[in-house]
Amino acid sequence: MATNNYVHMNECGLPLNAIEWLETHHNSKAVERRQMIRDLQLRAGSFVVDAGCGPGLWTPLLAEAIGPQGQIVGVDVSAEALVTAQRRSYGQWYRRQVQYKLAALEDLPVAPGSTDVIFSANVSQYLPEPVDTFAAMGPYLTNGGRLVIKDIDFGTMRFYNIDGGLQARVFRAREDWEQLRVDEGFAFEDSWVGSKLAGYLRAAGYEDVQERSYRIVRAYPLSREFRCYLQGIAEWFVCEEAPLLAGEDITSWLHCFLHESENVLDQESFVSEETEFIVSGVWNKRPSATVRFFDMQVAVQA
Ligand SMILES: C[S@@+](CC[C@H](N)C(=O)[O-])C[C@H]1O[C@@H](n2cnc3c(N)ncnc32)[C@H](O)[C@@H]1O
Repeated sequence: MATNNYVHMNECGLPLNAIEWLETHHNSKAVERRQMIRDLQLRAGSFVVDAGCGPGLWTPLLAEAIGPQGQIVGVDVSAEALVTAQRRSYGQWYRRQVQYKLAALEDLPVAPGSTDVIFSANVSQYLPEPVDTFAAMGPYLTNGGRLVIKDIDFGTMRFYNIDGGLQARVFRAREDWEQLRVDEGFAFEDSWVGSKLAGYLRAAGYEDVQERSYRIVRAYPLSREFRCYLQGIAEWFVCEEAPLLAGEDITSWLHCFLHESENVLDQESFVSEETEFIVSGVWNKRPSATVRFFDMQVAVQA
C-alpha cells in the first residue's frame, strides 16, 4: 500500500526540501559539473531557462558561461527550493542576471519562441511522461534553440571492492522496485534514465541530438562530501525496506557502507564509478498556429 505520497522526491528518496542533500551531491561532483557546462559552449548573452532549478546550484555555472549580458530564469514547482535559490543569489555577482519563478516544466513562464537554451538537471528522472514533457518545452525555444537534459543512470554504478553478486542483486532489486512502486501510489522515479534520454529527445521532435557521458570515478581517500553522497545513495538503494531484496543482502550492503571498522569507503582498495549523461537536441520548428493565436488573444485583452 502507498505509504509515501510526496509529489517530488530527490535521488535519495527524500522529499525535495532535503536541500542539504542536493548541495552535498552537487559539491561532491563539482569538477565534472563545471566541465559539463563548459562543454555546452553556451553563447555569450544567451537567454537560458533552468527548468527544475531546485535550490539554484547550477545558476553560477550557467551565469559564468553566458557572461554578464546573459539572462537566466530558474523555474521549479517547489516554492521552498526557489526561496533557497533566491537567498543563495543575494549579494552574488550573478544576482542581476537571474529570476526564480514557480512553474512546471510543461508550462514555462516565458514567451513562446523566446529561449535560446532550456537546461534541466536531475529532473527527468521524476517525469512520468518524459517525451510529452520535452515536446511541450520545445515551443518555448527559439527556432534552432537547444534543450539540454542532464541526468544520472545508476545502471553505470560500480564499487570495485564490493562483491559483484551483491551489487548486482541490490541494483536489480531497486530498478524493479522503481517500476513496481508507481503502481503502489509512490511518485514516479527512474534512476536509470540517463542512457534513455537521447531516444526521448528524438521521440519528442528534437533534431541533431547529441549525448555526452561523464564518468565520475573516485578512489580512497574520499572527500567528506563524496563519502556522505555515497552513504546517502547506499541507504537509498535499500530504503522503504527494499521489498524485492533478501534481508541478508540488505544487511551486507549496509555493513559495507556504514560499519565503523569494516567500511569499504575507508579501505585503500576503494574505487567507485558512475556515469552521468548530458543530452542536447535542437528545436527546429516555428511557433505553432495555436501559439500565435494565444499571443493575439493576449494582445487584444491588454
Ligand atoms: C533532484 S532536484 C534537482 C534540482 C537541480 N536541478 C539540481 O540539479 O541541483 C529536482 C527538482 O525538479 C523539480 N521538479 C520536478 N518535477 C518538476 C516539474 N514537472 N516542473 C518543474 N520542476 C520540477 C523539483 O521540485 C526539484 O526541485
